[in-house]
Amino acid sequence: MAGEKLFQPCELGGLKLQNRIALSPTTRARATPDGYAGDLQRDFYTQRASAGILITEATAVVPGGRGGPFLPGLWEDAQIDGWKQVNDSVHEKGAKIFCQLWHAGRLSHSSLSADGKRAPVAPSEFLQPGKIFTEQGPQDYELAHALTIDEIAEIVSAYRDAARRAKEADFDGVELHAAHSYLVSAFLNDMTNKRDDDYGGSIENRCRFLKEVLGALLDVWEPERVMIRIAPLGHAYNTWDTNPEPLFTRVVDILNELKIGWLDLVEGDTGVTRKPEPYFDLSKLARQFHGPVILNNLYTREMAIEAMEQGAGDMVAFGRAFIGNPDLVARLEADAPIIDADQRAYYSGGARGYTDFPTLAES
Ligand SMILES: Cc1cc2nc3c(=O)[nH]c(=O)nc-3n(C[C@H](O)[C@H](O)[C@H](O)COP(=O)(O)O)c2cc1C
Repeated sequence: MAGEKLFQPCELGGLKLQNRIALSPTTRARATPDGYAGDLQRDFYTQRASAGILITEATAVVPGGRGGPFLPGLWEDAQIDGWKQVNDSVHEKGAKIFCQLWHAGRLSHSSLSADGKRAPVAPSEFLQPGKIFTEQGPQDYELAHALTIDEIAEIVSAYRDAARRAKEADFDGVELHAAHSYLVSAFLNDMTNKRDDDYGGSIENRCRFLKEVLGALLDVWEPERVMIRIAPLGHAYNTWDTNPEPLFTRVVDILNELKIGWLDLVEGDTGVTRKPEPYFDLSKLARQFHGPVILNNLYTREMAIEAMEQGAGDMVAFGRAFIGNPDLVARLEADAPIIDADQRAYYSGGARGYTDFPTLAES
């Protein structure tokens, strides 16, 4: 039967999964102003727990690592309980759930930092053009401060502490957000990393921060439970790496050396195109990686079925389709209509456009 493999239970990376469909991480700005997950998030994830794996929205490791207000974090112990409620409920429905750990880097604002005054940070000074949405409304991006060596070490520690909290919250694993021009990817890419010390210049030096952060996660989690998201061809916030093939070939080598369990591979420019320039064939990276690969970006039902049948990867993650369709798995299996979510509700707060979408049976 067509599609059988996509929908069948399987075992990957030591985890028993209901199917090969994943919820791609989606920031929805429904946490409290202090970055706590609550009942709304519990309902959102539980509704989608017919997937094999849910990957959470980007979850900040420090307050100033948030890219906007009402985004969740794991920078203090008090934030553990809200996530534990989410995870208990998701586990009852049979899905696994990984926490996407995140530092937004320059794509943050001083008003979000711990004391409300600290400039956003970056590998090297950078003024992002445009505006960021803050609690006070849209404001200009601020000049990002180039991290000192000591500050880099503090951020690596913050990842370790957040990983420990994720474990206490009963997540099944953690995903390092190393895409979309946020801090880890800003270190990797030559357009955003202009350092001339051990953290900049050569590919090896630009990978140093990534290696240290992964090392911190591995202090807490066994390698099989660590996932990483990369978007080697991503153009988020108008920055990328000008020669991505050697850089990301080395990144995947590092992942293999560290025995990282899972690769979440965004194929192309996220949500925009699968073939931006500079382009190279990402199936090489999927084959190079030793563990299970989650494919993402602009997948349709037919593409996902074909990718699984051909063994192009091990799972397919859906982002936007999962926003408007809590029972996306059932809809894909039945080849039923997929509802387009209203983009104006992506970050609008409240249940509307978040947890009020009908299932197929209800509609
Ligand atoms: C509203 C929204 C929020 C997103 N938030 C995140 C995020 O927090 N972390 C992340 O890695 N990607 C994020 N993404 C990207 C998605 O995970 C996914 O890669 C993208 O939508 C492409 O997949 P799709 O074509 O299935 O939607 C977001 C996308 C959308 C539409």
